Amino acid sequence: MSSERTVLTTQVGIVGGGPAGLMLSHLLHRAGIDSIVVEKRDRDTIHNTHRAGILEAGTVRMLTDSGVDGRVLTEGHEHEGTVLRVQGESHRIDFKELVGESVWLYPQNEVFWDLAAARARDGGDIRWSVRDTEVLDFTTATPKIRFTDAAGEDFEVHCQILVGADGSQGICKWAIPQEERTDNFIEYPFAWFGILTEAPPSAPELIYSNSEFGFALISQRSENVQRMYFQCDPEENVDDWSEERIWAELQRRVDGPDGFQLVRGPIFEKTVLKFRSYVCEPLRHGNLFLVGDAGHTVPPTGAKGLNLAFCDVRVLAPALVDYFRTGNDTGLAGYSATALERVWKAQNFSYWATNLMHTQPGENPFNQKRRFGEFKAITGSERGAAYFAESYTGWSETSTPTHHNAAEGRPPGVNEALMGR
Ligand code: PHB
Repeated sequence: MSSERTVLTTQVGIVGGGPAGLMLSHLLHRAGIDSIVVEKRDRDTIHNTHRAGILEAGTVRMLTDSGVDGRVLTEGHEHEGTVLRVQGESHRIDFKELVGESVWLYPQNEVFWDLAAARARDGGDIRWSVRDTEVLDFTTATPKIRFTDAAGEDFEVHCQILVGADGSQGICKWAIPQEERTDNFIEYPFAWFGILTEAPPSAPELIYSNSEFGFALISQRSENVQRMYFQCDPEENVDDWSEERIWAELQRRVDGPDGFQLVRGPIFEKTVLKFRSYVCEPLRHGNLFLVGDAGHTVPPTGAKGLNLAFCDVRVLAPALVDYFRTGNDTGLAGYSATALERVWKAQNFSYWATNLMHTQPGENPFNQKRRFGEFKAITGSERGAAYFAESYTGWSETSTPTHHNAAEGRPPGVNEALMGR
């Protein structure tokens, strides 16, 4: 069998060509380290899969400073605040004023597109549309990825480090023996009904709205396309929802004495998004490292998913560069603990924001009123609002204790070489 496989040799084998895998491959390339990425989907499928659209400033800097593309700055929109609306009353959280940061509205599928273009431009080896992917020997010095390419040819990638960037449904984390990992997770009794509509924006910034009928999020995509969501049952069937019914449901969740009205338009996409909170611990087994959704997933309320994946890459890339340049594996040894510190902060924020803003099925009136009270404790106090603003825009890297930071013991110049500074 293996005699018929074509062997490819590289330093880092990456399973998954989404934003996390491509960003890692891109940064490694800039530091002169080879990688091969294998991805089961084709580029157009990923580009057409709608995901969240909010980027932390640190994520934007990674794209622009590392020479991926500046399109995020020209096509994306900087948002200096967001609106929390409770019982029909809007409260603006001014990120810029409270914590000196902002976020960018730029869809994740466009981040993917820019990264795929940058990897193609720089001669990156990305195998799209592969099948039957397997990872093996990752506790040895030569981990391997087996796959069959789109033309039906069988390959075996021999690498020194294997990275699982294959998302929440991927194979890599399940390849870690069960007794060697802890699966931490919780499920939620609700999902999001997401739509895309051809209409002008209903408001200049995002609106996270909590009403007695449940949660709704009014987001945007461009001048003429908008993204909106409302809390629904995880088993909801999109075919049961006419445009009329969707607009009525969204509208009643933002209704208030200020008379705020959503701008309606034709709906051209409807999806039910189920979500859960999950963390695999540790994020490493032998020479296999997990990044992004492959290692942890968050509910979309805090808009943290892609940002957290890039944070993992920001820890793993310099650790790998150090290892390949000097043989120093301190950064790799600290990867899981360092990345998990931020992961758990983001897990907490995403869980907290989700429970704050969603109505539990059959919710007891005490709990609903308690949540509204909690909401007002955030919106009605500068310190409360600053807590939300800091979490939403992303904690600054320096606020992370460095006792086992991958930066420790790193020769000067690694980050500068990666980020082009
Ligand atoms: C989106 O625009 O798709 C979006 C924005 C913010 C979120 C989640 C999704 O928290």
